[in-house]
Amino acid sequence: MAKPNKKNQVASSKAWSGRFTKGPDPRAEAFSSSLAVDIRLLPFDIVGSQAHAEMLAQQKIIKSTEAKTLQQGLKKVLDEWERGKLETNARDEDVHMLVERRLRELIGSVAGKLHTARSRNDQVVTDLKLYLRDEVEELIAGLRRVQRSLLKLAEKHGEWIMPGYTHVQVAQPVLAAHWLLAHLEAFHRDEKRLLALRQGALEELPLGAAALAGTTHPINRTLVAKYLGFKQVTANSMDTVGDRDFCVEFLAAAALCGVHLSRLAEELVWFSSSEFKFITMDQGFSTGSSIMPQKRNPDIAELLRGKAGRLTGHLVNMLTLLKGLPLTYNRDLQEDKEPVFDAADTLLAVFVVLPPMLDTLTFHRERMLAACGQGYPTATEAADHLVRQGVPFREAHEAVGRAVTFAAGQGQGLEALTQDQWQGFHQAFQKGILQDITLKNSVERKKSLGGTAPAQVRAACVQVRRRLTENK
Ligand code: ARG
Repeated sequence: MAKPNKKNQVASSKAWSGRFTKGPDPRAEAFSSSLAVDIRLLPFDIVGSQAHAEMLAQQKIIKSTEAKTLQQGLKKVLDEWERGKLETNARDEDVHMLVERRLRELIGSVAGKLHTARSRNDQVVTDLKLYLRDEVEELIAGLRRVQRSLLKLAEKHGEWIMPGYTHVQVAQPVLAAHWLLAHLEAFHRDEKRLLALRQGALEELPLGAAALAGTTHPINRTLVAKYLGFKQVTANSMDTVGDRDFCVEFLAAAALCGVHLSRLAEELVWFSSSEFKFITMDQGFSTGSSIMPQKRNPDIAELLRGKAGRLTGHLVNMLTLLKGLPLTYNRDLQEDKEPVFDAADTLLAVFVVLPPMLDTLTFHRERMLAACGQGYPTATEAADHLVRQGVPFREAHEAVGRAVTFAAGQGQGLEALTQDQWQGFHQAFQKGILQDITLKNSVERKKSLGGTAPAQVRAACVQVRRRLTENK
């Protein structure tokens, strides 16, 4: 919101002033201005306008000399903006009006021809799509940086073993690399979601829908699409100016990515605690306490976890904005930009800090291994051993359950049980049982596709590396 002007202004300075005999109330003007937010669309507004002017000339709707003047003027406005020399004033309602006002100051009344066969309603959706196309590319690059860092860690810690958890209880041993690749897969899906948006709604040009109904001028939308690099044009002009599905799709992808980040961050926080100490975060990515001298806190990971809140909020914001909104354009839609911009900014900032934070993590092999000594993580292996002897799984489960209860009563792990003791729980236990329940064996036998066996994990690393090097 801009600051209200002290005195009421004359009606004639507004683009829509013809219908008015009185200027806007400065408080209403300030309340409705979106310039502070949408100014960042300026380069996209200019590019869109240049394409529009070019098409108007091609279609002989304006003269080519006029188009040239418009192009040059628009370029000047962009130059001024890039050099930080473009002055805004509180009367500029939004970025589109700012550009038009400045254009008029620079090239005179011919500036008024630019808005032929166009409305801010189709213009603003076009700007937003052009903006998102760029951001989505950046975000995909960021997601790939995160995946590369996770992959490097996975490759580095090849066969290190850690407990895998269900219900936050030790479940089965897994390779640390398998755990890292698990998080990586979630970010890969985020990447695919953004790509789908890029190749879907962001390939459809809104410009040419005009205010809502199309235009009487002989425009050529396909030409504008070609100039701006869109594959096609949107189908229905009424839908076009009121559609913000692409914002919802973007925010849904961003919110889900935020959720994935929070799940990784949560585990990093836990695993770096003194109770776990599976990992240590580099000092550069930890913070101290202002009162407790001994502390090293995982604040960066906590902030990463916290970002899920705002990202989810932005999605809910946008859905609520659209809910029950009648066709076609309504000014409510001006509220679309802040959530979209903030979601993109938030994730871009995350993708700057997360990769180096991951790159500088230290893993503690002994701690992870020692944690596998708790909670009987190879009990399923003992049951599988019986199953291989032809014992039904339910019966095997029962026998191993008794063995675990016994060992727990002794305060020991399963590896402390002797061959005779095993046979006491079920006669089908063979000699190999002592071997079958080692951590190493447990991991190595999980050879099913997508399982944690070293051979599978190595293959996964190779596949992911290939994925991350191709179509960069
Ligand atoms: N600033 C407006 C927005 O972002 C631009 C479109 C305004 N159109 C209108 N008819 N008032 O939505």
